[in-house]
Amino acid sequence: MAEIKQLSPLVAARIAAGEVVERPASVIKELVENAIDALSTHITVELRHGGITYMRVTDNGKGMAEEDVPTAFLRHATSKIETGEDLENVVTLGFRGEALYSVAAVANVEILTKRREDPFGTSAKVSGGGAPVLAPAGCPDGTSVIVRDLFFNTPARMKFLKKDSLEAGYAEEIVRKIALARPDISFRFISGGKELFFTPGDGSLENAVAALFGREYANAMLPVEYAQDGVKISGLIGKTELSRPNRTFQIFFVNGRSVMHKSFYVALGEAYKGQMMQGRFPVCVLHLNIDPALCDVNVHPSKAEIKFANDKPVFDVIYWGAKNALYAIRDTRKLQIESVPKPVQTEKIVQGEQTAFMPPKKETAVKTDIKPFVKEETPSRIEEERVMAAVEKIIRKEAAPIMEDEPPMVASPSFVPPVKKEEPQVEKPSAPQREAIQEAPAPIIKILGQAFDTYIVAEADGKLLLVDQHAAHERIIYNALVEEMEGKGIDSQLLLLPVTVKLSPSEMAIFKENSEVLLKSGFEAEEFGAGFVKISMVPTALSGCDVAAAFVEVIDRLSGRRDTKTEAQTYALYGVACKAALKAGKLLSVREQEVLVEKALMLDGVATCPHGRPLILSLTKTDIEKQFKRIV
Ligand SMILES: Nc1ncnc2c1ncn2[C@@H]1O[C@H](COP(=O)(O)OP(=O)(O)OP(=O)(O)O)[C@@H](O)[C@H]1O
Ligand SMILES: [Mg+2]
Repeated sequence: MAEIKQLSPLVAARIAAGEVVERPASVIKELVENAIDALSTHITVELRHGGITYMRVTDNGKGMAEEDVPTAFLRHATSKIETGEDLENVVTLGFRGEALYSVAAVANVEILTKRREDPFGTSAKVSGGGAPVLAPAGCPDGTSVIVRDLFFNTPARMKFLKKDSLEAGYAEEIVRKIALARPDISFRFISGGKELFFTPGDGSLENAVAALFGREYANAMLPVEYAQDGVKISGLIGKTELSRPNRTFQIFFVNGRSVMHKSFYVALGEAYKGQMMQGRFPVCVLHLNIDPALCDVNVHPSKAEIKFANDKPVFDVIYWGAKNALYAIRDTRKLQIESVPKPVQTEKIVQGEQTAFMPPKKETAVKTDIKPFVKEETPSRIEEERVMAAVEKIIRKEAAPIMEDEPPMVASPSFVPPVKKEEPQVEKPSAPQREAIQEAPAPIIKILGQAFDTYIVAEADGKLLLVDQHAAHERIIYNALVEEMEGKGIDSQLLLLPVTVKLSPSEMAIFKENSEVLLKSGFEAEEFGAGFVKISMVPTALSGCDVAAAFVEVIDRLSGRRDTKTEAQTYALYGVACKAALKAGKLLSVREQEVLVEKALMLDGVATCPHGRPLILSLTKTDIEKQFKRIV
């Protein structure tokens, strides 16, 4: 009896209709999901030209009977559900009976399939939605679907496809996710004739993670196993050292399906609260199991979103599951923390007679009999040197000319950047507009201190100023980088030891697409084995910074839509400046504050950081007096 049946119009109408074929990656996702639903244990995905000319998914699953093959290509024809009631309890990945129909409408599709119990298999060819042409075929048990010339009959959609390497990256990312969803299935991924990964399919999530991201990465993950209010969670979360600048490595599955929901990342973020630096995100591969009746995957045609009858138990199980895993490592560290007062230091910061007074810092010494899991903070000594080097660089450097592409955004309409103060020991600026400024009477900058270790409070030119230290430093560095690039090129330095960094497939594609931009930004990096990049040279502005994190940050900045090389270049430099800049929350010496304020005030006309946030807020004496009702 035929297994695949067309759904009644009533049931079909309840299924979210929509586009399932957007790009090769969406086809791959549908074909692999079909292979999983057919109970396969080995699945091979093969692409050529990013999948645009050729995709093949081969499985060793249950196959189809000859009589079912033509039905499989009909719209709303499925073997997975029959009634509206079944729709409430979907346990397979597919259920709409739409994927093969949609793919066959926009490509040339060939299927070879054989059930174990049949003596021979069936081949079927469909071109651009026409009728399938069937023939008996000698083939192994299972199914192989070949999709050629995607969008050959819809040139408008073809135009939206990106370069082959990017399309291959998207497809690889999807199959990696599915491989993490199903560590019990062995996945092989081949692109352009090269095998990019192979998972063992032995049921161990850790082994799947190791096959995809490397053993070291897998070793820095913590197991999560928790259940509450009927929701179960299991999987792995990363120790803080695996944190990323975005959420790409936060992977969640609900009943085996890769989905995203706001509660997931909010709960995870909450669990790491206080342990994760601002702008960094934990990584995870987490599986949730919940009664299918309590969630709805039918929200979005690509099934990437999910709705829960109640979000709270889902939030709780992730939060407590992750929190417990993190507590578990704390307990094994047996830390003893004691305060060690540090003597007051004075330090030379510039050539010549100036000295900076470093305020005494409370330092903590960590005594532990076991090597702590969490990477220790950068030693404060190195950090201090870095800050001083940055300041020295600011002193040596002159601010770059005003950026023309960015409209000046002055925080307070009353703020007009004052002129530069005379400073005999500082090299004279070269830009002509500076010369004119130099001759004007110099304002005196009075540093009043640092608020919240983030804003410098100063008095200058009759105004009370609040300077955002990170934003100001970022803009100063950015302008200096632009100046360097337009001049002799970005100043870069060779790393003593090259740094290798693991990239996701889409990050790798961005890296490859932007090699020229990266080189121009001062990075020398090359692909180094599957998924790794070796960095051998970095912009000097980054000296002392976490090179890997800075590199990923720059890649991240390049990931949005960048229409021109110049735009990409600008974003790359934003990334470098952001990483090289002093952080908010960093205690600064009076001299450091003074230099920063002075340099920020010299950026006349550009009163925003590269992201458009204001650098300086100001209040005149009159503004203040009005507030105190001294004057009306
Ligand atoms: N690799 C495969 N092995 C065995 N049967 C398959 C395979 N691929 C497709 N089929 C059969 O073809 C039918 C139609 O597949 P199709 O992907 O179009 O729909 P679906 O998987 O039922 O639902 P969805 O549109 O949500 O994916 C399936 O229900 C299944 O019976
Ligand atoms: Mg399907």
